[in-house]
Amino acid sequence: MIKVGPMKLYVRTFGCQMNVHDSNRIVEMMQGEGYQSTTDVKEADLVVINTCSIREKAHHKGISEIGRLCKRVKRNKPDCVMVVAGCVSEQEGARIFKLAPQVDLVVGPDQIAQLPRWVRDARQDGRIAMTGFDRGTRADFLSTADRATPRGVSEFLTVSKGCEERCTYCIVPSVRGPERFRHPDDIIEEAVLLTENGVQELVLLGQKVNAYHYDGLTFAGLLERLDQLPGLQRLRFTSPHPRHMSPSLIESFGRLRTLCESIHLPVQSGADGTLARMGRRYTAGDYREVIGGLRRACPEILISTDLIVGFPGETEAEFEQTIGLLEEVRFCGAFSFKFSPRPGTAAANLPDDVTEADKARRLEIVHNVIERVEREIRHDLVGKRFEVLVTGSGRNAGQLTGRARNNQIINFQPAKGATLNQAPGSLHQVEVTGVMPHSLEGIPVADEAQSG
Ligand code: SAH
Ligand code: SF4
Ligand code: F3S
Repeated sequence: MIKVGPMKLYVRTFGCQMNVHDSNRIVEMMQGEGYQSTTDVKEADLVVINTCSIREKAHHKGISEIGRLCKRVKRNKPDCVMVVAGCVSEQEGARIFKLAPQVDLVVGPDQIAQLPRWVRDARQDGRIAMTGFDRGTRADFLSTADRATPRGVSEFLTVSKGCEERCTYCIVPSVRGPERFRHPDDIIEEAVLLTENGVQELVLLGQKVNAYHYDGLTFAGLLERLDQLPGLQRLRFTSPHPRHMSPSLIESFGRLRTLCESIHLPVQSGADGTLARMGRRYTAGDYREVIGGLRRACPEILISTDLIVGFPGETEAEFEQTIGLLEEVRFCGAFSFKFSPRPGTAAANLPDDVTEADKARRLEIVHNVIERVEREIRHDLVGKRFEVLVTGSGRNAGQLTGRARNNQIINFQPAKGATLNQAPGSLHQVEVTGVMPHSLEGIPVADEAQSG
């Protein structure tokens, strides 16, 4: 059969923002090779499954998706190239061919820049597994390839890759490699390219993003430089580590024009014993101090976090300390997980001694506290006004949706006859009128509506 029209690319992404970013770059790169994106896997000529290995469940989900997609695709289209990318690839390497014999190409996170070449080679020569880490030279960072691709309102911008923190539970250092910082000129150049293409918000990416430093430039210094970009409206970053929350970084909140009033600052546990066993290198007291500093610098800041329950040796008393911290700090949202032993990590050698029943019970208690506190915080926002950056249409007809600077999703309906700029990227002052399970409802404050 002779193929007419462009080759089709289907990408399925698991895991964190770094994988989302990498998948976006994959799409861009392959579009440069003449591929067109599709949401229908059955018509794909190239399938990329970008995997995550952070917990056992994520790992298994990736592996079973590989099997499922291979089955769906290869039966009708044996020539379709099946690629497994991301952290499971780095961890498993060529073993993936044993788990899923129909996979053609395995690429670790640091090999993605060469993807077009590996795909061509795999089409000709069959199975290839490319893993291992680069040295982090200027060419090794996956940056936005071109000015032609239409951009979203908000885009990711990589400032570092890898991690050497070696929190005892975490597989990231072994699947993402050593910590490498990107040259600041390259960060600024990409930021300029993006903002000149209409991007209003940048989200800086790094596993320990606030550990960034380069030739004397600190992370706070980098934020200050980005803050001066004329086209930029909003700046965020993920994920910061509490022990790198320097006084100058804390003080940047509430001072820098673009730095938003929200932070996701993973705490993991509220008990010093657990934190020490996790290798987090801060105490619950240190964490409380950082939070105090952030709230003094920026009283309206909303703070979210990550938590692990049932870490080896976590006693009931230690767990209670975590609950105490949740009640005291009052996070607006948290991702909480049961401890999952990961191969090759220090914690995998500790006895996984909290029973499954206790892990499940503790997770539920954490969920309930987080949900209640988050609901209370969001109810307190009713009647307040926020600047909303429109990202698209809301669920109901005529409704717009977007985010406030504190990262809350707000849906609002322009008043009848009002001529609001409805385009993604426009800014509006909105008064919050109601609380929905995952968003807020609001009305535009007509007189102050901005054209964006
Ligand atoms: N680099 C980020 C987070 C990386 S992983 C940081 O340092 O904060 C995202 C979250 O997954 C972590 O914050 C942690 O809460 C959770 N996590 C990581 N490894 C885990 C494991 N082995 N078991 C359970 N949760 C884990
Ligand atoms: Fe993992 Fe810790 Fe590095 Fe975060 S800082 S990626 S939790 S090792
Ligand atoms: Fe998962 Fe890799 Fe991110 S393990 S959380 S996709 S760095």
